[in-house]
Amino acid sequence: MTVEALQELLDDMSLAEKIGQMNQVIGSFYTGESVATGPMADKGFTEENIGLAGSVIGVSGADAEKRIQKGYMEKHPHQIPLLFMLDVINGYRTVFPIPLGQGAAFEPELSMRCARMAAQEAAVSGVHVTFSPMADLVRDARWGRVMESTGEDPYLNSLYAAAMVRGYQGEDLRKAGSVAACVKHFAGYGAPDAGRDYNTVELSEHTLRQFYLPAYEAGIQTGAALVMTAFNTIDGIPATGNRRLMRQILREEMGFDGVLISDWAAIEEMLCHGYCADRTQAAQRAVTAGVDVDMMSGVYAEQLTALVQDGKVPEALIDEAVMRILTLKNALGLFEAPFKDADEEKEKQIILCEEHRALAREAARKSFVLLKNEGVLPLSDKKKTAYIGPYVDSRNLMGAWSITGETKDVATLRESVLEQCADIDAVFCCGCPMTDSGRKLEGFLECTDEMVSAEEQQRMMDEAVEAAKACGQVVLLLGEDRRQSGEAASSAGIQIPGIQQELLDRVCAVCDQVAVVLFSGRPLDIRQIAEKAQAVLLAWMPGTEGARALVDVLSGRYSPSGKLPMSFPYCVGQVPVHYNEYPTGRPHVPGKDKDRFRSKYLDIPNSPLYLFGFGLTYTSFSVSPVVLDRDHMTKDEILTASVTVRNTGSVEGTETVQLYIRDVAASVVRPVKELKGFCKVTLQPDEQQNVRFFITEKELCFLTENGRWESEPGAFEVFIGTSSLADAPARFEYR
Ligand code: BGC
Repeated sequence: MTVEALQELLDDMSLAEKIGQMNQVIGSFYTGESVATGPMADKGFTEENIGLAGSVIGVSGADAEKRIQKGYMEKHPHQIPLLFMLDVINGYRTVFPIPLGQGAAFEPELSMRCARMAAQEAAVSGVHVTFSPMADLVRDARWGRVMESTGEDPYLNSLYAAAMVRGYQGEDLRKAGSVAACVKHFAGYGAPDAGRDYNTVELSEHTLRQFYLPAYEAGIQTGAALVMTAFNTIDGIPATGNRRLMRQILREEMGFDGVLISDWAAIEEMLCHGYCADRTQAAQRAVTAGVDVDMMSGVYAEQLTALVQDGKVPEALIDEAVMRILTLKNALGLFEAPFKDADEEKEKQIILCEEHRALAREAARKSFVLLKNEGVLPLSDKKKTAYIGPYVDSRNLMGAWSITGETKDVATLRESVLEQCADIDAVFCCGCPMTDSGRKLEGFLECTDEMVSAEEQQRMMDEAVEAAKACGQVVLLLGEDRRQSGEAASSAGIQIPGIQQELLDRVCAVCDQVAVVLFSGRPLDIRQIAEKAQAVLLAWMPGTEGARALVDVLSGRYSPSGKLPMSFPYCVGQVPVHYNEYPTGRPHVPGKDKDRFRSKYLDIPNSPLYLFGFGLTYTSFSVSPVVLDRDHMTKDEILTASVTVRNTGSVEGTETVQLYIRDVAASVVRPVKELKGFCKVTLQPDEQQNVRFFITEKELCFLTENGRWESEPGAFEVFIGTSSLADAPARFEYR
């Protein structure tokens, strides 16, 4: 449709029809088939609201989508098609590693491919919009949703947000295999006070803009069709009713002209926040802030008509929002093809096809982070292996947000080992239940927790200890339950469940060749694990092909190469913690712990147990001192920083060479170090490669005291290394 035709359509619509477009409802209002991903209080939707709603959340499957769309359009006065939106986070049916795991691959292009394949599966299943990527920066491991982020670094997050948007949307939303992306949760949702989900966010304007906004902006600049508001307050005002945030920062400054959707019931929640006295005020404030679509609160449906009729909300505001929604429907080609790519036959062909599974396996392999290895990994094929732990037979490898992933599609570790190593000498046992007895966990989907009696627990543990004794090496598969991270899964304790801790203790007491494979949606306090086990391989929630990928890596066919996108704290008392912190006036000097008046703890180190960017491989690398081609540069010049990276071990490996820069003195304090570039190099033993980074003004810019993104003259330090621990910087003068 042309813009003129869209305008004509808009002009012809009744007020009720227009407001209907701004209302999103759950699919079960039309059929029984949909997943509720938020509280389902009675929102008081009327039949008319449902008949005129502009979009639907939670429906998947070509058949369901087509039935709903057809039935709806037949009754709609202008036959305007519905938009179908769904959370396709780390995959649709073929599930990739959780986003935090994808961040560990330090390969945004890989995530672009994952997003593309997820989009293809979702599109043939009738999905038009995915609520992804989540571009929230995260620093606090207590917050369960860190699993949905790509980590603590604004530069890395920006690359990922952009790559995912590109992957979902492709060149043209109209084309087959493209779905519209929704950058969320605008803004600052990743910084809830005390790590408690939905809690207040307290960020200075500077911190918000310098660290938190860049990744959203990167997704928006790449052309994301939608943005979702955050549940939290920003500067005391709920994001969903925050005019300055939405009108000035999002629309004017960032130039976003797509559809702004509220998070689930967030408009109504402004009453609970104490920002709106009633639903009328909530509707008025949200629409004034520029929120186009009300996800599942019913406030727009109930209140907007009267507000317009009473002259409290100008109809022009409604028209503006509806035009954006119609424009999105048009960009997706829905007026001509209301089912878009929905196709039952294609669902059978594409979903979980070999190509998608292969990518899921590659992505999982690349997401694993080797945190410690004292010679246990790769496993020796001369020794008998005991695979022990609650993850031996678990299919729950997809992470909390995989609402369309099915556990039956996931191979277990036991199955994968037997499938790939036919003549292996191995034993398998669970050792203990996943969580401590009596612990009940809620997820989006039904999942029964089996109660294991104390005697049975004892028997399981004894069996595991005997297995460990009888074998030369143990792979201990431990971690959080799938439901322990994700939305509404904040946790004040960040250790593995106590029963698993006991299993670790008992197994490590009888075997000194233990490799722990850790499944987790968040950084954990793993001091005990790192102390007791000889190797620790972080597997995150690796997805459909996660177990097969693990066997690839445990067997040594592939060397792990992941790097932490979020620091692993020493303990929970250290969070929020991140590598790119500001220096203080009294910096802690490592080794000088007795120096009293320093910024330090009395009882723990300042540094996380494993810092951002850290990760080992099966080989070792040396990095030569940083060489700069000059000791000064000006605004228009390019400075080259280089190192020689050498594989000093005995097998092939991939290293992620990382560039960090520090602005030594500036009008606003700058972080001790900031990631500004990275490069993955694969080298054979003894092979070396010169790695060069080009530093331009862009890498030196920040939000100065003038409130502008600009560079300032002065000294800069350049670090290049294999993690954010990189030291021995080279220095240059920027004039
Ligand atoms: C979450 C969003 C999600 C939405 C729809 C909310 O509870 O915060 O991230 O997209 O539900 O499922």
